[in-house]
Amino acid sequence: MSLNEKNTREQWGSKIGFVLAAAGSAVGLGNIWKFPFMAGQNGGGAFVLLYFAILFVVGFTLMMAELVVGRHTQLSPVGAYKKLRKKWAWVGGLGVLAGFLILSFYSVVGGWVIRYIVKAVTGSFNITDPEVLGGLFVNFITNPTQPLIYHAIFMILTLGIVIGGVSGGIEKYSKILMPSLFVMMILIMFRSLTLPNAIEGVKFMLVPDFSKINGSVFLSALGQVFFSLSLGMGAMITYGSYLGKDENIIDSSVQIPLLDTAIALIAGLAVLPAVFSFGFDPAGGPGLLFITLPAVFAQMPLGSIFGLLFFVLVLFAALTSSISLLEVCVSYTVDEWKWNRKTASIGLGLIIFIMGIPSSLGLGTWSHIKLIKGLDIFDSVDFVASNVLLPLGGMLLCIFIGWVWGLDNAYKEVTNDGKLKFPLMRVWGFLIKYVAPVAIFIVFIQGTGIYQWVVNLFK
Ligand code: TRP
Repeated sequence: MSLNEKNTREQWGSKIGFVLAAAGSAVGLGNIWKFPFMAGQNGGGAFVLLYFAILFVVGFTLMMAELVVGRHTQLSPVGAYKKLRKKWAWVGGLGVLAGFLILSFYSVVGGWVIRYIVKAVTGSFNITDPEVLGGLFVNFITNPTQPLIYHAIFMILTLGIVIGGVSGGIEKYSKILMPSLFVMMILIMFRSLTLPNAIEGVKFMLVPDFSKINGSVFLSALGQVFFSLSLGMGAMITYGSYLGKDENIIDSSVQIPLLDTAIALIAGLAVLPAVFSFGFDPAGGPGLLFITLPAVFAQMPLGSIFGLLFFVLVLFAALTSSISLLEVCVSYTVDEWKWNRKTASIGLGLIIFIMGIPSSLGLGTWSHIKLIKGLDIFDSVDFVASNVLLPLGGMLLCIFIGWVWGLDNAYKEVTNDGKLKFPLMRVWGFLIKYVAPVAIFIVFIQGTGIYQWVVNLFK
């Protein structure tokens, strides 16, 4: 752990360590589990196209924005806003809230991954019948107690790493595991792409059907960009705060989103061709990864070993993300309330574990409970966090930088006080000040139905 001489704030041990840790935060269940099923539910190619459009306008822009604010203030979100403008601290607070909500259901899914590792060890990746695979998955997640045990294990792993601190814990693991995951995903993608009928899945994912695009698909794509890149709640502010003053934020802001998107596309090309090859339903939802990939493994030589390795790596990808979620909450209590890291990690981990219980039960015992727009508890928490709090947090950050803190201050930080060249600086400023906040606002009020509701008021 390298300590800064002037203050005792931790810093990343190396440049590549930071990029991998930040990419580790970004790459996770959002890419491997969520992206393929969101694409499946939202019209395939149409969703992917919107995802790219939003990535270019909002994704890169906000990645840089968060890293800038984090490194400038050397503080986690609440402290960062507070330091720059006291009145804005609540925006950081929204982020911490989003972190609590996201981690609560994220850990439930992380638990499913652990369950599948256990399955792989006991050698049950030899079934190709979609009905049977679907049945096994549904039986498991609707069980009232089993998934909670795995949810607890996932949370314990997460807080265990966070206790270890920034460079000692987070960075060390990311450095080895991210590259392994990348290689593994590519292998599985090739196996999927060479299955009979795989081309249908590729077409589904890459050829957009414009009639599928509507306000709610747009909002889902927006939410997914935020979720997948870990934006909108200050995770990247926090990671940026451990970044040294001579590092290059410009490069990182391009590298991290590119890596993240590459992995999402590879995951899509691993899951969706298999969906078509085995006759699953692309709109099958959260179970897609857990139902289709075991079928792919059953079709591979040494499939059970591949299956085991794959789910182990997914677990690590999930952990490098979940630790960033917990880290935001922990660093808040450490920076603002002077808690000690260990107490904070354990205490907050316990609270978030408890918050996740209703999400898990909402898939089985409590599936009759619908909270928002007919969604079960799990999907409602996801909706509020991913499609409401993250976009709002992102929009407010743009407004803050563009109109309150000021672009000139941001430019200085981006270029390391003029030492680095950034030819697109003014484009970035324009996106931050005008385009991104307006775009987020429009997608948000359209997709949530707020726009329609207001229009109806005046009828
Ligand atoms: N990006 C992660 C994933 O794709 C999840 C995640 C980690 C996240 N930290 C975040 C999402 C902060 C939103 C905000 O799995």
